[in-house]
Amino acid sequence: MSSPIQPIKENASMVVFGASGDLAKKKTFPALFSLFKDGRLSSDLVIVGYARSKIEPNDFIERITQFIKIDDNDSETKQKLEQFKKMCTYYRGSYDGVDSFQGLNNHLLEREGDREERNRVFYLALPPDVFVSVSTQLKQQCYPQKGAARLIIEKPFGFDLDSARDLQSKLNPLFDENEIYRIDHYLGKEMVQNLTHLRFCNPVISHLWNKESISNVQITFKEPIGTEGRGGYFDTSTIVRDIVQNHLVQVLSLIAMEPPTSLAAGDLRDAKVQALRRTRLGDLKDVVFGQYVKSKDGKRPGYLDDDTVPEGSKCPTYSAIPFFVDNDRWDGVPFLLKAGKAMDVGKVEVRVQFKPVANGLFKDAHRNELVIRIQPNEAVYFKLDIKQPGISSKPLLTDLDLTYKNRFTNMKLHEAYEALFFDAFAGDQSRFARIDELECAWSLVGPLLEYMEKEKPQPAPYEYGSNGPELLGNFLQKFGYVYDIPDYYEYPVTNLPDDK
Ligand code: NDP
Ligand code: BG6
Repeated sequence: MSSPIQPIKENASMVVFGASGDLAKKKTFPALFSLFKDGRLSSDLVIVGYARSKIEPNDFIERITQFIKIDDNDSETKQKLEQFKKMCTYYRGSYDGVDSFQGLNNHLLEREGDREERNRVFYLALPPDVFVSVSTQLKQQCYPQKGAARLIIEKPFGFDLDSARDLQSKLNPLFDENEIYRIDHYLGKEMVQNLTHLRFCNPVISHLWNKESISNVQITFKEPIGTEGRGGYFDTSTIVRDIVQNHLVQVLSLIAMEPPTSLAAGDLRDAKVQALRRTRLGDLKDVVFGQYVKSKDGKRPGYLDDDTVPEGSKCPTYSAIPFFVDNDRWDGVPFLLKAGKAMDVGKVEVRVQFKPVANGLFKDAHRNELVIRIQPNEAVYFKLDIKQPGISSKPLLTDLDLTYKNRFTNMKLHEAYEALFFDAFAGDQSRFARIDELECAWSLVGPLLEYMEKEKPQPAPYEYGSNGPELLGNFLQKFGYVYDIPDYYEYPVTNLPDDK
């Protein structure tokens, strides 16, 4: 058994590679600031942004703090921001040159000063083709002689099963598995973390979590924007690699897994891997592929109108894919993974639909559903029937609603990246993907990727801003989903879960 990973509490440095990029300014540095402000980072932390671009020190600070919003009257936070700015510097270098990494090491040594140990966290927010060269240079030039090293790697980890294995085989001689933190930022989201608690703290849920009670499970990702400007990347990635293989399969594994022996990273990831090993893709002919076309009013462009997209591309920007988990708990229950760009709304949710009540007393009862809304406006609500209030015996579909913002006052939910960076410093890998999880996820979508590559199926068109291809209705029906039109509007009600 490997020894537990020690948390990094002090003598810490973090290098953000790709610091000139989008993710760095929008997510990484705001998340680091938030952790710092809440006292969750060591006060001696040295933060270095690293990239090839020429950026003046002041411009760098300006750049990485532009998305940090502080209330005008909040002088305490403003003061913290000034402190944070002093912790951050920029170092310019290449992603493969020995000189650059020797220079980075010297820069770190200078900033770190005399320390008994040097704990270094390297975060690779970079295109995957430079992961190996950067990791190699880090090992050779910047790996601490005394102290801990962590290598946080952004997605995508590989392009398919073979390339993921190949990447891992190149990292193997450089960093131990317990030094590698593979990001799937969905694992840092509050409601994704919540799945384990909902399932295993509540007998009322855990006892129903099986094929006897559950008819079908939908995991839905909808984004209201298209691939604007990212068409080059997206066209080879497709919605399957961009969203399904990683974010949605991770959510599936947390829903489908058996109770882990403990919540420790090893046990939790074992349970997820076991579930994924029993999961298979449904029939390829049932998969729905879609590609968005111009919006109804013609104002939003179609996927093919993007200059960065190859002419006539058949890249799916939408997919609805059935999966099955072949074990005693889930035999025959479809897990429907739906993901789309340029949709009517932005929403990510898990919708667990229960089997119908036995025929008998009521002919007009509705299906129960447990909905976990991951974003936006985090919520858990349970749709159930009550007697229609008043002189009536009709079942009325309503819900027990736990919308977080209504339930918890002064609630501050963390951003996914905050939780993940916090865990990386703490040495907790439970919310990072282990290599065998990723291999399972790639194997799971492998036949689909192969089919897309060989057959090049024509995706069904759907308008930008719509609910996806029309075929979706048949798809859901086929897998047993029953859409009960809610009776909410027959009654003036308050506090509806706001996706109604
Ligand atoms: P960017 O495209 O902005 O790239 C980040 C930096 O990498 C750039 O500023 C650039 O820095 C450098 N770079 C860009 N292209 C290349 C190249 N071909 N070769 C070497 N270096 C290059 O990406 P983001 O900041 O949006 O994202 C960073 C990584 O994180 C992405 O590669 C993506 O895989 C992943 N990502 C993850 C997301 C998630 O939600 N988990 C979301 C978005 C992205 P410079 O030229 O100055 O060196
Ligand atoms: C990324 C995808 O992994 O996740 C993007 O590459 C997508 O295409 C993003 O927009 C969605 O993340 P979130 O946290 O906004 O749901």
